Amino acid sequence: MQNILVTGGAGFIGSEFARRMIANHPSYKVVVFDKLTYAGNLDNLLPISENPNYAFVQGDITDHAAVERTLEEHAIDAIVNFAAESHVDRSILNPDAFIQTDVVGVYVLLESARKLGINRFHHVSTDEVYGSIPEGTFREGDSLEPNSPYAASKAGGEMMLRAYHVTYGMHTTVTRGSNTFGPYQYPEKIAPFFITEALDDRPLPLYGDGMQVRDWLYVGDHCDAIDTVLHKGAPGEIYNVGGEHELHNIEVTHFILQALGKPETLIRHVADRPGHDRRYALTNDKIRRELGWSQQHTFEEAMAATVEWYRQNEWWWRKIKTGEYLDFYKAQYAERLAQAE
Ligand code: NAD
Ligand code: TYD
Repeated sequence: MQNILVTGGAGFIGSEFARRMIANHPSYKVVVFDKLTYAGNLDNLLPISENPNYAFVQGDITDHAAVERTLEEHAIDAIVNFAAESHVDRSILNPDAFIQTDVVGVYVLLESARKLGINRFHHVSTDEVYGSIPEGTFREGDSLEPNSPYAASKAGGEMMLRAYHVTYGMHTTVTRGSNTFGPYQYPEKIAPFFITEALDDRPLPLYGDGMQVRDWLYVGDHCDAIDTVLHKGAPGEIYNVGGEHELHNIEVTHFILQALGKPETLIRHVADRPGHDRRYALTNDKIRRELGWSQQHTFEEAMAATVEWYRQNEWWWRKIKTGEYLDFYKAQYAERLAQAE
């Protein structure tokens, strides 16, 4: 591998991956291909913007011509796909873009790669494709029972990878990551949303009883696992990547408030998310046993550092919380918060 296309590399996890690839693999050229939707942000790539091994192309993964042009111009030999519509609440309000990007976009990338003879394709998926599990942990062979339009569209993308591996022999790999947190995460997901709201002493809208369970994974560990699978993963294989740190949402909220020295009176229990998955949990046995990956960060240390990053980097998030963000905030939370008063 020499030239790697990182689609969705201007987003939260993709930009961490691009920054790490530049730092850890100095012989690679990293080309970020990103549409710059509301979630895409070139500020995330500022730390590498002057690096000669980095290039940026603005483009849409559903656009065959733009994808093929970029693959050819940069002589790409591996694709790592992060590009997605990624927020469950937005998928409930408006699923259309999810089907386009997370299903059709994955197909366009695969088909362009096949046409141009690019055989290495890694796809970044999510534990949400499994659906909810009341107890125990999901393994890679378990059935997929996605419950939100987001999760269903991600499962659809994965199925296209499977087809391109089985039918055309493409060297595909998939990682299913759990709830990821860290710097540069768009402030709509619970951690950055609650941190930045609490910094401004604003109410934190916790869905339902707040007893839903998520498995928390630090973004650096997530990207390290993707790097491992990209280099060592077996063709056609799927690998879970969990943080092995389950918490109720209310516990995550308490941790954030405590780290910021803010009162618990900021918490508002609001109307639940429709179809809300109660618990996600998965085992890392396979990636640990077969590829030797293990995580390097504890939740406590990494979440404390993340809270501190948001405290120190208002320049990054204040400008995001304007315009379209406020429209989404209103659609998602105005009525919920009014009813909770
Ligand atoms: P994000 O929303 O922060 O970033 C998504 C990026 O994709 C943005 O830069 C956006 O501009 C780009 N994009 C969207 N549509 C595009 C299109 N049609 N063409 C080109 N670019 C497009 O998302 P994230 O949290 O960084 O997630 C990255 C990937 O990891 C996604 O595939 C997501 O499903 C997966 N994932 C996320 C988590 C999590 O907790 N955030 C957990 C597991 C898996
Ligand atoms: P989120 O960060 O949206 O990730 P996902 O839906 O992919 O797990 O949500 C994490 C959990 O936090 C989920 O159970 C929903 C809950 N949540 C709230 O209670 N309030 C909120 O405002 C948000 C955004 C999420």
